[in-house]
Amino acid sequence: MKHIQPCVIWFTGYSGAGKSSLATAVDVLLKSQGIPTSILDGDIVRTGLCQDLSYSKQDREENIRRVGHMARQLVDTDTIVLCAFISPFRESRDKVRALFSDGQFIEVFVDTSLEICEERDVKGLYKKARSGVIKNFTGIDSPYEKPLSAEIHIISSNNIQSPETSAQQVIAYLQLSQNI
Ligand code: ADX
Repeated sequence: MKHIQPCVIWFTGYSGAGKSSLATAVDVLLKSQGIPTSILDGDIVRTGLCQDLSYSKQDREENIRRVGHMARQLVDTDTIVLCAFISPFRESRDKVRALFSDGQFIEVFVDTSLEICEERDVKGLYKKARSGVIKNFTGIDSPYEKPLSAEIHIISSNNIQSPETSAQQVIAYLQLSQNI
């Protein structure tokens, strides 16, 4: 079987939507085929490369700009780059898309509803945001602009689809779009 070509797979959605779990599940599948991959994840990037940035609109845009350029460089080293960021602004995501050639930027909308993310509240951040301890929290007092035409739409609000099943959906898209 022909290998999947280097590209960036960009997971966007609310905090707690399952972006990181899905990126990790895709990573496992690609690695099992011997394909070089790299994961860039908001929670990690924000403790290093972007630790100087807040969650204001301007700083989120800068966060995504830096990550986009990093992804560009990694794709140039023949790596499939998996990016998991809320990336709430359409314009920011489209600017990253513009760094890549056609078919090289695959946007995955991890469409878990705000209600479910808040109910799960894995990190306890929604509770803090509701009580005003944290400001500018996506979905509470900061906007999220849903993708209008993402290449892949993962609807996991019903909690039925596992990350592994969603990962298969991503791989199937890659194979189809690259004629593999
Ligand atoms: S982005 O908006 O700039 O793309 P990014 O994906 O890097 O965000 O970081 C999101 C993660 O930071 C969340 O999953 C959460 O754990 C944490 N976080 C802390 N404060 C906020 C906030 N005000 N809004 C959203 N996420 C926050």
